[in-house]
Amino acid sequence: MPRIAALIFLLGVLISSLQGAGAAIVNLGDGGGVNAHPHNLSTNNNSSNPGVIRSTTEDQICIFCHTPHGGSAKGPLWNRPDPTVPAGGTFDLSSRPGLNIASAGVVGTSLYDNSDPDSYPNGATRLCLSCHDGVTAIGTFLVGNATMTDNYMSVDGTIELSSTHPVSFVYNNATKKPAMSIPTVGDAAILDGADRMQCTTCHDPHTHTNDGTYTLPMWRYYGSGGTDENADYSAMCTSCHVGTPGVPDIHNM
Ligand code: HEC
Ligand code: HEC
Ligand code: HEC
Ligand code: HEC
Repeated sequence: MPRIAALIFLLGVLISSLQGAGAAIVNLGDGGGVNAHPHNLSTNNNSSNPGVIRSTTEDQICIFCHTPHGGSAKGPLWNRPDPTVPAGGTFDLSSRPGLNIASAGVVGTSLYDNSDPDSYPNGATRLCLSCHDGVTAIGTFLVGNATMTDNYMSVDGTIELSSTHPVSFVYNNATKKPAMSIPTVGDAAILDGADRMQCTTCHDPHTHTNDGTYTLPMWRYYGSGGTDENADYSAMCTSCHVGTPGVPDIHNM
């Protein structure tokens, strides 16, 4: 009997440690809306870090990005103005002729076209940059506004497209290199409704995965390699860049 009791105890420890591992995820609505998700910009962000950007006046969470009425058609019930993509914020492929998505046949058929500031960046990437450009006021919505502890993105959170993985391009047989693969339906490496790679291919804005032990932020592939962060990371990249590390041309780009 003691042995069974010990087994039950160990099982309990195992289950609670598995639950502990799962606790890395915080969804935006968790805790009745009171949580430390970095995208919880409301007064209900209960992070103890004084540097966290949040509002001193607005207690709703979703309003920073969505509104039930009067939103823009650029995103789901989207409550944000267009970003002001800063100088150098485009990803100019003319200096990278080796890339398939930079080839002449591709640019101009709008598979990758950064010549029009109104259409590039596009899709969810454009939505992300309405805060992550570092220059658009976080607390100014299409409908309403909020006073923030800091109304502009931190330096760390500011994303330069010129030093980011290419985004806002159509990913298909014309843009991929021959050895690359296209994620199948149901694969978490999502392309958007227009078959484009976006920030949301790698990140899910509603899910906080960076709890300090797991460092990949808002990782859409969280858990795809069990609880192993490295496996989650490579599962993301190799869903397109198939290859074996150490083998020449392994990147298959
Ligand atoms: C920091 C910005 C941000 C906040 C805050 C936010 N969302 Fe979103 N949400 C987005 C973006 C960006 C998309 C579009 C994602 C895409 O195109 O892949 C989206 C999409 C959605 C969608 C469409 C389905 C989907 O998942 O693509 C729903 C539903 C949604 N959000 C609900 C909510 C709710 C409910 C809240 C508040 C608890 C919320 N969101 C807060 C950024 C946000
Ligand atoms: C309403 C403004 C807003 C929008 C829109 C927004 N973010 Fe954020 N995001 C923030 C803020 C504020 C932080 C915290 C940055 C800081 O404190 O340095 C943040 C942090 C992050 C982080 C780091 C999280 C961590 O755990 O360290 C990621 C990744 C991120 N955002 C991705 C996205 C993506 C992808 C989109 C679009 C789908 C998006 N964000 C849209 C405001 C926004
Ligand atoms: C190919 C996958 C991928 C794409 C696409 C991607 N990210 Fe990330 N992002 C990462 C990884 C991995 C990290 C963590 C390591 C790092 O910081 O470089 C990260 C980190 C971040 C952070 C935390 C701050 C930082 O720089 O470390 C923010 C904010 C962020 N990404 C926003 C974005 C936005 C906005 C876009 C779209 C313009 C985007 N990401 C596109 C993979 C991606
Ligand atoms: C949805 C598919 C997809 C995913 C997922 C993806 N990539 Fe890419 N990546 C591409 C495409 C397409 C290109 C451009 C290839 C070309 O034009 O020749 C590219 C280009 C690159 C480049 C070259 C960029 C340059 O400017 O020279 C690097 C490095 C890279 N990816 C690394 C990564 C890493 C690391 C990850 C995971 C964090 C990742 N990729 C995830 C599709 C993807």
